[in-house]
Amino acid sequence: MKFDAVPVLDFGGQYSHLIVRRVREFGVYSEMLPCDIDEEDIKALEGKYNVKGLILSGGPSSVIEAGAPSCAPAIFDLLRPILGICYGHQLIAKMFGGRVETLGIGEFGIAYATIRRRVGILRGLKRRERVWMSHRDSVVEAPKGFEVLAYTRDCPIASFAHFKRRIFGIQWHPEVIHTDRGRLIIKNFLFRICGCEPNWRPESFAAKAMEHVREAVGGKRAIIALSGGIDSSTAAVLASRALGRRLTAVFVDHGFMREGEPEEIRRAFEEFDIELIVREERDRFLRRLKGITDPEEKRRVIGEEFVRIFEEVAKEGDAKYLIQGTIYPDRIESGLSRRSEKIKTHHNVGGLPSSMEFEGIVEPLKDLYKDEVREVAKALGLPEGFVRRQPFPGPGLAVRIIGEVTEEKLEVLRRADAIVREELEASGLAEGLWQYFAVLMDTKSTGVRGDSRAYGYVVAIRAVESSDAMTAKFARIPYRVLEKLSTRIVNEIPKVARVVYDITHKPPATIEWE
Ligand code: XMP
Repeated sequence: MKFDAVPVLDFGGQYSHLIVRRVREFGVYSEMLPCDIDEEDIKALEGKYNVKGLILSGGPSSVIEAGAPSCAPAIFDLLRPILGICYGHQLIAKMFGGRVETLGIGEFGIAYATIRRRVGILRGLKRRERVWMSHRDSVVEAPKGFEVLAYTRDCPIASFAHFKRRIFGIQWHPEVIHTDRGRLIIKNFLFRICGCEPNWRPESFAAKAMEHVREAVGGKRAIIALSGGIDSSTAAVLASRALGRRLTAVFVDHGFMREGEPEEIRRAFEEFDIELIVREERDRFLRRLKGITDPEEKRRVIGEEFVRIFEEVAKEGDAKYLIQGTIYPDRIESGLSRRSEKIKTHHNVGGLPSSMEFEGIVEPLKDLYKDEVREVAKALGLPEGFVRRQPFPGPGLAVRIIGEVTEEKLEVLRRADAIVREELEASGLAEGLWQYFAVLMDTKSTGVRGDSRAYGYVVAIRAVESSDAMTAKFARIPYRVLEKLSTRIVNEIPKVARVVYDITHKPPATIEWE
């Protein structure tokens, strides 16, 4: 069965991925596409999905500037209905002969839109709507054949439509929660305008993903890199259902795992009937990381070493394919879209060496967000403990040690991290948290113990709330819990002199420190 889909053409907007999520929440498949796709790309997409419409995202550029990102005019004939949001709205205006200008200082934040006609995407809205805006340019003249549907005090054409051609534009952001009835606008577009069937569910994705694995690997053998996290575990179970005994799971203990983790993974995987090879490679990784302080270089080296080990294991078992648990946000942040900035190289994506001895890499979860992976995991019958497990980066504690990774630092961090986990789990706070862990600084600090001077490491505690890791808020942990954490860490780990709590949201910080 083919799913109905409404993809998003990405013009580099901060909220492009949010549009994708909103569409999926309504049971319609979506993904982000680079804005410069051509007819061939569209045909390829139509081979996989019933493409029922298209959304043009916002973006940081100005359509008035020379060289501003655009899309092929042919798209408007190939894929309709179309909804342009913010930059997308202005781009439609420009491409169809309307006028866009920079008016005053723009609108940023809450604004009030007056809806002139409550039809099309605006059906069911009130006459006056609280909306969220973020723009400097405005459409000041609608193109011929387009009807103005809404305006604000500072934006004369905040929404327009060409009903016959089924093209819609909206200046505000229906995808952000600060827009009242934003979801209704998206719902109107998907169901009233595009006529979608809500037939996509993350769990229905599982059957399709298995089919994809089977097709990609053919009759050959594959290995999967297992980290013990939800992504690779789900990918492993999925791939084993698709390939049976033709799959071998490989767990490389690089020495950067948390306390007790290698044993836990070994135990858990004995229960799923999957062949598991454990490679103990602590010294090899530590040696390779000696003297390296740059976070991207650490990721690259670890990624490369991983692949070399997988190649060795694959050779021994005659496996031709490498299966990975890469998910959608990994790809977005590693620079999936041609116009969004690369934030950091997730080691299972951009950190791969350019030459590998595999015939192919298969990533069955590459289009899913984390919470969607959790749903797939549940549908596949993975135990609760796995489904709820906090995310842990592939390069492990190596990217939670700032500066050079040494045996001593690893020992200190592993203990501090175990204390953070123990206390937050015992306090009942862990359930509401996305991640909670310790980070080891590259600086030392003075303290006093008894009557003598102490000079030791600084440990930072990071605890965040999030639903998909794309944005996160630092958790408001009660002082009494923070106090217990700092007391235990400093008392139980003599090499630590000071504990600090990270109070930065994402953005502007990332969740991990490196
Ligand atoms: P950041 O630090 O970018 O992290 O806000 C977002 C989410 O991704 C996890 N993360 C990684 N996962 N390999 C992974 O498999 C990596 O290199 C990596 N770096 C970050 C991070 O723990 C968070 O959940």
